[in-house]
Amino acid sequence: PLRVLSGIQPSGQLTLGNYIGAMKNFVALQNEYDCFFMIVDLHAVTVPQEPANLREQTEAVAALFIAAGIDPRQAAVFVQSHVPQHAELGWLMTTLSYMGELERMTQFKDKSAGKEAVGAGLFVYPSLMAADILLYQANLVPVGDDQKQHLELTRDLAGRFNYRFGDTLTIPEPYIPKVGARIMSLDDASKKMSKSNPNPGSHITLLDEPDVIRKKISRAKTDLGKEVVFDPAEKPEISNLMTIYANCAGISLEEVAARYEGQGYGAFKKDLAEQVVALLEPLQGKYKEIRASGEIHDILREGAQKAQAVAETTLRQVKEAMGFLAPR
Ligand code: TYM
Repeated sequence: PLRVLSGIQPSGQLTLGNYIGAMKNFVALQNEYDCFFMIVDLHAVTVPQEPANLREQTEAVAALFIAAGIDPRQAAVFVQSHVPQHAELGWLMTTLSYMGELERMTQFKDKSAGKEAVGAGLFVYPSLMAADILLYQANLVPVGDDQKQHLELTRDLAGRFNYRFGDTLTIPEPYIPKVGARIMSLDDASKKMSKSNPNPGSHITLLDEPDVIRKKISRAKTDLGKEVVFDPAEKPEISNLMTIYANCAGISLEEVAARYEGQGYGAFKKDLAEQVVALLEPLQGKYKEIRASGEIHDILREGAQKAQAVAETTLRQVKEAMGFLAPR
């Protein structure tokens, strides 16, 4: 079967954007593909992390994967740093990367803009991400729109490797949702919804209490007028809310528009809040159970074993192709 790999950073709480853009597809793909889903702690430390916090968040995100519906018997769920091959292939991919192409990464430009001290890890972050994907010879990588550029770099690096050293690595394809690839902030639809936004009203986290969700949605910014129509250019705020609705309810944008024809924003937002609550409340219940049971450690150990077996094979092939002397 074809392989799927993706990762999410354990920095702060996951948002509805992470769920709609990525996690929802993890769940959708797990039955048909050989899946690997990881918590990318090595990526998280490209910006300073409080150790206790990193530990807690890593476990929390793993539990969220399971709570969202990833079945650990179908997909390997693991922590990046538990599979040391990531760091090793990451280094090799760094040696294949050009300064110029890394400088062009918009995520790097955004995260380093205006900063005095920019960590070198932030700069080589995309080379490590390429290693993550290539280690598993992944065919498909489910991500949101903001990771598209990193995926293109991954494809370039794989092609460069194969050209220089012979066919070794699979060229991956991004798997990006048609509706919901870029969920925007609730207070400003020109900005991506992000866990790092200091205004809590700008994003819904997967662990927000139902009443908090209701409040945030009732306060979400709307556009002039009162019609619930999908028009990202003229009505970016309402279009974003409609995208969230469509994803939570599992219906198309056209169906959302039809459902609220002739009704105002008020009725729409009220229902939207209930759709989000209906999605997240069961997930939160499951999350609490998983955290209390401690089973996550078994899941992560087994996931890492499964991942390591594949990663080891690829890394051996890569090192051999590059001319590293094998220990005898
Ligand atoms: P991260 O942790 O920032 O985000 C995890 C996933 O969520 C998606 N996403 C969104 N989708 C829609 N709307 C939003 N507002 C939104 N915000 C985030 C992201 O596109 C991503 O798919 N570099 C990656 C992690 C990573 C990775 C990998 C991904 C490391 N190695 C290998 C795939 C394969 C990142 O920082 O994602």
